Amino acid sequence: MDSPGSSPYSVIVESRSPIDVRHPRQDTSPAVLIRPYSIADAQSMYDAVRESLADLMLWMPWCHPDYSLDEARSWLDLQVEAFRQRLAFEFAIVSREGRFLGGCGLNQIDVPNRRSNLGYWVRSTGTRRGAATTAVELLRRWAFESTDLVRLEIVIAAGNVASQRVAEKAGAVREGTLHSRLILHDARHDAVGFSFVRPVESG
Ligand SMILES: CC(C)(COP(=O)(O)OP(=O)(O)OC[C@H]1O[C@@H](n2cnc3c(N)ncnc32)[C@H](O)[C@@H]1OP(=O)(O)O)[C@@H](O)C(=O)NCCC(=O)NCCS
Repeated sequence: MDSPGSSPYSVIVESRSPIDVRHPRQDTSPAVLIRPYSIADAQSMYDAVRESLADLMLWMPWCHPDYSLDEARSWLDLQVEAFRQRLAFEFAIVSREGRFLGGCGLNQIDVPNRRSNLGYWVRSTGTRRGAATTAVELLRRWAFESTDLVRLEIVIAAGNVASQRVAEKAGAVREGTLHSRLILHDARHDAVGFSFVRPVESG
């Protein structure tokens, strides 16, 4: 899967990436892309979140009924700067035609252990078409090609069956149950921990 040119997917990155972009891949006909966010994504992101409130609010602690365009703008401001400073790496998920589909990213970076959290969401009208799985595959590849992170963790509420299926389909390893690991809207949830680990031979 990682051999050059074997994937139909693509990652668009610029050289403001974490620990120097070494070989960003530019395949020609991807169905789903990930690209770093820009401030100009605010309206699209806001629209996508608003249409998806019922699905996102269950599992995303930042999502709430009064989610506003200002919140989208503020978050994007932070993320564009965080990417530049290599503190977090958040990406928009977009279709080949340029439709905003959702987001995915690497955050909560633990520098000494070269570890990060990996998260994702897809707008409600874009689900069940493989977008999340593709985005996670792209993000994993980007992380291992373009950063020196060795471990990407996906922490999923035990009840979030759809997200666990995404992690499994993208090839993440299920590592076990994490008790009371997540607090979502003031309620404690057990979680399932998944990970991608950089193969030892590649550094
Ligand atoms: C979970 C989520 C990211 C899935 O996105 P998606 O683009 O629909 O996922 P995919 O199309 O890649 O689907 C991958 C697998 O999950 C399954 N799946 C997707 N949504 C599902 C659902 N609601 N119930 C059961 N299975 C589901 C798909 O059927 C597919 O499995 P299959 O090929 O065996 O049928 C999306 O529903 C979402 O954003 N949910 C809310 C936010 C969230 O939970 N984020 C993750 C937090 S850890």
